[in-house]
Amino acid sequence: MSQRKRFSISIIRYLYTTFIIIGLMYFAYSYLHRHEANVTDDLRNSTDYISFTRTSKCVKTKLLLNKYRTTVCTHNVVRNRDISGSLMSAGIWEEYSVTHLLRILSKHRQYAFFDIGANIGVYTLYAAVTGCSNVISIECFFPNIDLIRQAIGLEHVEEHVVLVPRALYNKSDVYLSLQENIRNNVLSQYLNEEVVKNDTNPFLVRTIRFDDLLPTVYKRNIREAIIKIDIERSEHYLCETGEQMFNYLNIPFVMMEWANIKAIPERATLIRSFFTSRQYLPYAPETCQLHNETDYSKWNSQYIYWIKHNYAYLCKL
Ligand SMILES: *[C@@H]1O[C@H](CO)[C@@H](O)[C@H](O)[C@H]1NC(C)=O
Ligand SMILES: *[C@@H]1O[C@H](CO)[C@@H](O)[C@H](O)[C@H]1NC(C)=O
Ligand SMILES: *[C@@H]1O[C@H](CO)[C@@H](O)[C@H](O)[C@H]1NC(C)=O
Ligand SMILES: *[C@@H]1O[C@H](CO)[C@@H](O)[C@H](O)[C@H]1NC(C)=O
Repeated sequence: MSQRKRFSISIIRYLYTTFIIIGLMYFAYSYLHRHEANVTDDLRNSTDYISFTRTSKCVKTKLLLNKYRTTVCTHNVVRNRDISGSLMSAGIWEEYSVTHLLRILSKHRQYAFFDIGANIGVYTLYAAVTGCSNVISIECFFPNIDLIRQAIGLEHVEEHVVLVPRALYNKSDVYLSLQENIRNNVLSQYLNEEVVKNDTNPFLVRTIRFDDLLPTVYKRNIREAIIKIDIERSEHYLCETGEQMFNYLNIPFVMMEWANIKAIPERATLIRSFFTSRQYLPYAPETCQLHNETDYSKWNSQYIYWIKHNYAYLCKL
């Protein structure tokens, strides 16, 4: 490589980094001027976040089931390589699971869809264009929420989606700090410790319990639902705080990330007892094989499907 070429590459890198830093400073600044949002009253005003998402790009996604295509807005690819990167290059993320959930939702129009850990909204946006009229989308990281909101606007599905800007936790309305868990993936974070609310820190999230969403469920006349939950080892809070919701709603199908949480025995056993006591069985998504080993750490799929005993057909749809 020539000296000059190398020089221009480092200039480009330098400018790029500067750009990102300025973006983050803007974001921190806008965060200071934010307003509180209500759980059901969707979202804060996206103009506050425009600076962070200026590097975002909204893309039309891949056509699934020969019928459904939607819009997803992505972050700057460098900061979110796997999800945004995959959407930019292939127009889809987790195609197998998204397609499967679309099959369920398109055949069972009465089901609401809880997208817990919506990230930038791939599942949410596909579900909304499939005709699911009650998509409850829970996401705690504001830059993500803003992107979901942009995409909802572009697809004109505001009526179908309730955005809940919160993190699922065992207490309502406390603040938690986030902790980055994957390099170059600012959007995939663990919940860290409880903190005092501090407006100068953008990596703080406000919490809800799952049962806190019951008023939304009553108001929208929801009686049946399916769930996708992928919240970085916090999945057990669904069980710890969802007793009333699971009693009130018929929830035949829950897709849950398992690969990470299974390493934490207290959480994994809690989840397993919760579901088995309610007559759910764990399936491996791609094969629909029942995970029959007693040792759940041997359930080796990234996700598992918890399916109510007489709904096994939902796996093969
Ligand atoms: C968004 O925020 C701006 C400035 O804070 C305000 O003037 C505007 O009314 C808000 N829009 C909505 C839809 O809340
Ligand atoms: C909530 O979860 C945190 C973190 O796992 C734990 O320290 C705390 O004791 C829990 N609180 C309740 C009320 O269960
Ligand atoms: C808020 O956060 C800032 C910077 O992160 C820190 O300097 C300050 O002490 C915090 N304030 C409180 C009340 O925790
Ligand atoms: C689980 O199921 C597989 C095939 O369905 C069978 O070969 C295996 O013995 C079963 N394992 C247990 C522990 O029941």
